[in-house]
Amino acid sequence: MNNENGFHDNGHRPLIELRRLHRYFGETRAVEDMSFEVFPGEVFGYIGPNGAGKTTSMRILATLDEPTAGDAFVDGFSVIDDPDRVRRRLGFMPDYFGTYQNVNVREYLDFFARAYGLRGKERNRSIDSVMEFTKLDRLAEKPIDGLSKGMKQRLCLGRTMIHDPAVLILDEPAAGLDPRARIELREMIAELAQMGKAVLISSHILTELAEICDKVGIIETGQLLAVGTVDEISAQSQAKSRVRLRALGDGQPLVDWLARRDDISELTAESELLSFNHEGGQAEQALLLREIIGAGFEIVEFASKTKSLEDVFLHVTEGRVQ
Ligand SMILES: Nc1ncnc2c1ncn2[C@@H]1O[C@H](COP(=O)(O)OP(=O)(O)O)[C@@H](O)[C@H]1O
Ligand SMILES: [Mg+2]
Repeated sequence: MNNENGFHDNGHRPLIELRRLHRYFGETRAVEDMSFEVFPGEVFGYIGPNGAGKTTSMRILATLDEPTAGDAFVDGFSVIDDPDRVRRRLGFMPDYFGTYQNVNVREYLDFFARAYGLRGKERNRSIDSVMEFTKLDRLAEKPIDGLSKGMKQRLCLGRTMIHDPAVLILDEPAAGLDPRARIELREMIAELAQMGKAVLISSHILTELAEICDKVGIIETGQLLAVGTVDEISAQSQAKSRVRLRALGDGQPLVDWLARRDDISELTAESELLSFNHEGGQAEQALLLREIIGAGFEIVEFASKTKSLEDVFLHVTEGRVQ
């Protein structure tokens, strides 16, 4: 049962699609009317604070929970109508790693390979290829309760991809990793995207996802507040950059002059150092500086900082965080 609306202008179908997804737990609106798409080869970052609804929506995609309303599709198959087909095409990496005693790396992967119905040579090939991909091949005989956090995370990713799914759902995979393990994770995710898989990855740490993701969705209390590339989201949020300005002499006339403009907001003055949000891009800022000087102010410092993903997030969620 293919999703008939699945064809899009860029010529291929989304591998992941949420369509007006809702999930309520009693009074709690964990997911509220969430829609987005992830295409083959794309890494989609799911950013939001704890309790935003990331895990709930990922669990629905992974067929571990059902929506209150709406639907979600994996490779065109509905999680409600076709959960078996969804499961075969998707790997879900939860945000916890259970404890296992007396199981080594190979046995652990073998268990999951069997669970996915892989047999004989095919099973061994899958295990070997996953161990190579996650650089666990030399640790095949190592008991998993003795692995480092980074190794466990690689093993968990390995188990998620044992049946070579087209879609990977990774819930907070970078949490608690040291910098080196994070870089390794980022490289593996990039490689998975190059293979044409669609990757949905969540984090409550905004900066963590900026370099890994092609697109990000910012979610808060179950709602998608913004979606797009980091640049697109910056553009959507009104103030693009924060400008710092220092003038010679009394700053008050300049403060008054700036306060009359409507491309400037959140103006603050600390002795002669002024700072404000400016809506324009670099060209508009160059023009602004020329106008300030043209108006007779003596400027000794003019610096502008483009907003980071974190600033953008704060702006997008402004007033909506409870
Ligand atoms: N099984 C459940 N029963 C009741 N409330 C739940 C359940 N699972 C999640 N919630 C609530 O739904 C909201 C979203 O949680 P969650 O999806 O885990 O957020 P996130 O993963 O973004 O931190 C939270 O308010 C949480 O308490
Ligand atoms: Mg979560």
